[in-house]
Formats: sequence, structure tokens, C-alpha cells
Amino acid sequence: MKIINVNASEKYNVVIGSGILKDAGSLTASAIKSKTAAIICDSNVGAIYASTVEESFKKAGINTVKYIFPAGETSKCPEQYIKLLEFLAENHLTRKDAIVAVGGGVTGDLAGFAAATYLRGISLVQIPTSLLAAVDSSVGGKNGIDLTAGKNLAGAFYQPDIVICDVEAFKTLPKKEFISGMAEVIKYGVISDKELFDILASEDTAKRLMEIPESYVNIKEKNERCKELDREFIEEIVARCVAAKAHIVEEDEFEGGLRKLLNYGHTAAHAIEKLTDYEITHGEAVGAGMVIAVEYAEAMGKCSKETVEKIKKIIDMYKLPGSIEVTAEYWGKERELLAADKLTNAALSDKKVANGSIDLILPEEIGQCVIENVDTAGLKGFFEGKVI
Ligand SMILES: NC(=O)c1ccc[n+]([C@@H]2O[C@H](COP(=O)([O-])OP(=O)(O)OC[C@H]3O[C@@H](n4cnc5c(N)ncnc54)[C@H](O)[C@@H]3O)[C@@H](O)[C@H]2O)c1
Repeated sequence: MKIINVNASEKYNVVIGSGILKDAGSLTASAIKSKTAAIICDSNVGAIYASTVEESFKKAGINTVKYIFPAGETSKCPEQYIKLLEFLAENHLTRKDAIVAVGGGVTGDLAGFAAATYLRGISLVQIPTSLLAAVDSSVGGKNGIDLTAGKNLAGAFYQPDIVICDVEAFKTLPKKEFISGMAEVIKYGVISDKELFDILASEDTAKRLMEIPESYVNIKEKNERCKELDREFIEEIVARCVAAKAHIVEEDEFEGGLRKLLNYGHTAAHAIEKLTDYEITHGEAVGAGMVIAVEYAEAMGKCSKETVEKIKKIIDMYKLPGSIEVTAEYWGKERELLAADKLTNAALSDKKVANGSIDLILPEEIGQCVIENVDTAGLKGFFEGKVI
């Protein structure tokens, strides 16, 4: 088990281990003193893990109520957010109680926003079950919902009281979702951890990681040593990403500067997600966004061809769509639907646009990125891969 301490405006621990879901109640009880916990899950995760979490809370002397919503990004919406608040009120949750988000980034963002705003803020426990949520969305305190105009347009900065990550949960994660999470793992390598990037870029690591959802499922037929090795390995990867994020959040919790680096690949990703009606997952879109950003960085003379090739290769190794062409093909629609002007318009609704300009995160080399502010014309050039 690994514990990473986050020293933001609120201090809390991220506990990473194998088989620790059944201890979620006692781990929570050691961090907060709540009498009742509202356990929030989407329909997929609820069917698999809600009862284990409920039991562990009951064992720790915490009453539970449970709220299940339909799985998918479209549930990260105002209607679902209001339904959740009404549920909390109907069940008389008080300021002393807690919200427990068990699931992927959609659950964490939706439940986190409810925790930040219900009764002006109640305790929050994040229990990420997707790789993406484990390495990124459950840590750092950002939450929110999507509006018709764009992604994450309503939300808050609100730190959890504890994050409990059981890597065993990845055994039931669909491979597509595991791959989606790998995009955020790779992101940490590019923005701040060259050593992590190099580990991920080895054929051996890629093979080992890409086998994780399946190897867990088939584990009974394999030997126990293999099982232990994989668990330790994935715990280590998650811990490394969480440590990188914790460091950035500690330095710049409210995204004045350094934290913007975490948006590497995300300007294009949010536009792609919006145009594809969220049929392309967040991580898949981030994969494409990272390639678009590094190609633009090269066009601007900020990085070498070698850096572009390294990023394209790793995106390919982890089977992420890496360019607009491949993304459109993967989506099964015409390339024209993701044309540069359409992407530019979609990106202009990004919450990071201020006074007609936006900060792009561009790699200079592996492990180091810079922030480049561009206007609307520059943004179109960004999507066309040329400097305007
Ligand atoms: N707040 C932040 O800092 C932050 C950072 C990055 C991403 N995000 C947000 O996170 C969301 C993406 O997160 P996500 O990829 O986890 O999406 P998600 O929550 O929709 O989960 C993906 C799918 O996997 C399923 N799932 C999750 N864990 C499972 C498990 N253990 N077993 C079986 N199925 C499981 C879910 O039911 C869902 O169908 C996006 O909305 C994105 O904007 C937020």
C-alpha cells in the first residue's frame, strides 16, 4: 500500500493499494467523523462495487444511502446534478455527513460538485475505480458538470478529505477505458516526468500494462507471482502520477500558472469530445490532443521532430487515436466533421478562453512543456498544424 500526502489548502491522503475497497469505511472513519455517507455510483460501477463499499462503511459505524445514475459523460449535466442535490436533501444529509464518489471521472466530477455546493460544502471521499480517475480526476479538487455550450463549464475547486484507490478495480474496467486512462498517464510523462515516459515507452512496459485488464480476468489460470507483480507495478504507476499531480496542485491549486500544464492535450480534446457528442472518450480525445499540440509545437520551432515522433509512437503503442484522421476513422465518421474550423469553434467555448485568447500547452522536450497564449487565428493554426 502506498500513501501520498497532498498538501493543498486542505491536507489529505491518497491511499493506493490492492483489495482495499473493503476497508474504505475504516479508512474514511480515520479521516472524517461523518455519521452518514451518501454513496454515489454510476450504473456500471454500482452493480459491481456499491455493496462492498456500503458494507465496509456500515462495519465502520457509518450509515449509508445510495444514489445510482446512468453511466456516461452525458450524466455530467445540470439535470443529474440537481437530481443528486434533491436526493441528498430528501435523505436529510447534514453538513456533518459525507459524499462518497465511487467510480470514474464522471462520478467524481458530478459528486464532487454536489459535495462542494450542497449546504455550501460537505465532506467528500473519492474512490476512483477507473485508471483515469485514479491518476487524475480524483486528486486535486477540480470538479464540475458540462453545459450545452461545452465541457466542465460549471464547477468548483473543492478538495476531498481522502482518496482511496483500489487497483483491483481495474480488473473489471473495459480495456477501452483502461487505454483511455493511459492517455493521462502518458501526459504526466510529457509534462513533468521524463523517466516515467521512458518506462512507458519500453515495449515491455506497454505489453505488461496493456495486458492488465485481461491478465486480471484470466489471473486464475496464471501463476500467483505474475498477479503480485502486476499489482505492484500498477500501484507504482498510479502512485507516480498522483505524486506528480500532488506536486503541481500544491504549487498552484487554483490554476494561476503551473497547473495549466495538466491541460496538455486538453484544448483539442474538449473540442473533439464536444463535436463527437462524447462518443470519443476523454482519454482517447486527450491522446489525439497531445499529438495535435506537439505537432503545433514543432511548427512553432519549439520542439524537435524527434520529440514529435516519440509522442506519436507512444500514443500508437497504447492504441490511442493519435491524429484527427485516425480519430475520425476510429469514430466511424467523415474527417470533415472534425475540420479545423469546426474544432476551433468548439474550442472557443472552452472555459480557458479569456478575452479571445487561450493558453496552449506545448512540449519543448519530453518532461518539459511551456504555456503559449494564442488568439483565435492562432487557435485555427493550432488545429491545422501551422503557425498563422
Ligand atoms: N476533475 C478533474 O481534474 C478531471 C481530470 C481528468 C478528467 N476529468 C473528467 O473525467 C471524466 C472521464 O473519466 P473516466 O474516463 O473515468 O469516465 P467514466 O467515469 O465515464 O468511466 C468510464 C467508464 O468506465 C466504467 N467504469 C469505471 N470504473 C469501472 C470499473 N472498475 N469496472 C467496470 N467499469 C468501470 C464507467 O461506468 C464508465 O462506463 C471526464 O468527464 C473528464 O472531463 C476530470
